[in-house]
Amino acid sequence: MTSGSAQFPAARPRRLRSTPALRRLVASTRLCPAELVLPLFVKEGIPEPAPVASMPGVAQHTVDSLRKEAAGAVAAGVGGLMLFGIPAAKDGNGSGASAEGGVVQRALRALRGDLGDDTVLMADLCLCEYTDHGHCGLLTDAGDVDNDATLRRYADVAVAQADAGAHVVAPSGMMDGQVAAIRAGLDVHGHAGVPILAYSAKYASAFYGPFRDAAEGAPRFGDRAGYQQDFARSGSEALREVRLDLAEGADAVMVKPALPYLDVLRQVADAVDVPVAAYQVSGEYAMVEAAAARGWVDRRRAVVETLTAIRRAGADVVLTYWASEVAGWLS
Ligand code: PBG
Repeated sequence: MTSGSAQFPAARPRRLRSTPALRRLVASTRLCPAELVLPLFVKEGIPEPAPVASMPGVAQHTVDSLRKEAAGAVAAGVGGLMLFGIPAAKDGNGSGASAEGGVVQRALRALRGDLGDDTVLMADLCLCEYTDHGHCGLLTDAGDVDNDATLRRYADVAVAQADAGAHVVAPSGMMDGQVAAIRAGLDVHGHAGVPILAYSAKYASAFYGPFRDAAEGAPRFGDRAGYQQDFARSGSEALREVRLDLAEGADAVMVKPALPYLDVLRQVADAVDVPVAAYQVSGEYAMVEAAAARGWVDRRRAVVETLTAIRRAGADVVLTYWASEVAGWLS
């Protein structure tokens, strides 16, 4: 007789959850510091690091404070650093982005000197922090972003960053053809060995809000919806962007933001055989920090849960402002 089966279920998924040791044994997704990348901001011409109000715990650094922060991250086991620069002066061409003495180039030289090859130094490659209008590319007289003129600038920026010691360049401007232009520029300037991590599937997102305070790169007019992806489109558009970037020579691809786009992340991870990164962006960070500050969520549990979910969805590498702190928890 099987009449007892309703009372005593044979299948009991709970059996494997009964002790922390059992749960740890069967966990299929684990976090490890080496796959975390810490984004860092360095600002020209400030005497002291300046806290970013909308991102508690994050600051705009001087080159000196950046060096300390970077050394701490590497000591904690963080796998890489992503650098963003804020120049003292902006102009229509975003000249500071490619200047040999530009703030990111100076920071890269300092960090490469301190850290050598002990970490992976990545440089975000875009113009929005450097242009006076705040768009990610050059403008036409009519005020539109000029895709093809921007490509030449991106190639110059890539070469300047690689010359300064970047191990990886990471174009985030969402111009069509940017990976091919950057690859060509790097190759003819002796940097054929520098990989490109392409922000391939990057959405026009409200979750970049706090970052625009941190990087001071908000557009002065209009928005980025003409070049960043529309979140209402299906994931197949993300796959198209990823395929184009790979055909142009991208060595690794990124999905950004992370948590609202786990479906896209999974599709991309299933479709490609290169490393996939996901960027847990400023607004994702700020939401958890704000709720935790009010006691509405348990901060540490929420951080670990979001990062684990991003890894579970298929990210090999995760960019997160919590990288150093989480690395400390994991060791
Ligand atoms: C620059 C860039 C942005 C972010 C990374 N690179 C802002 C934007 O596109 O408006 C956002 C990162 C974050 O919100 O943490 N193109």
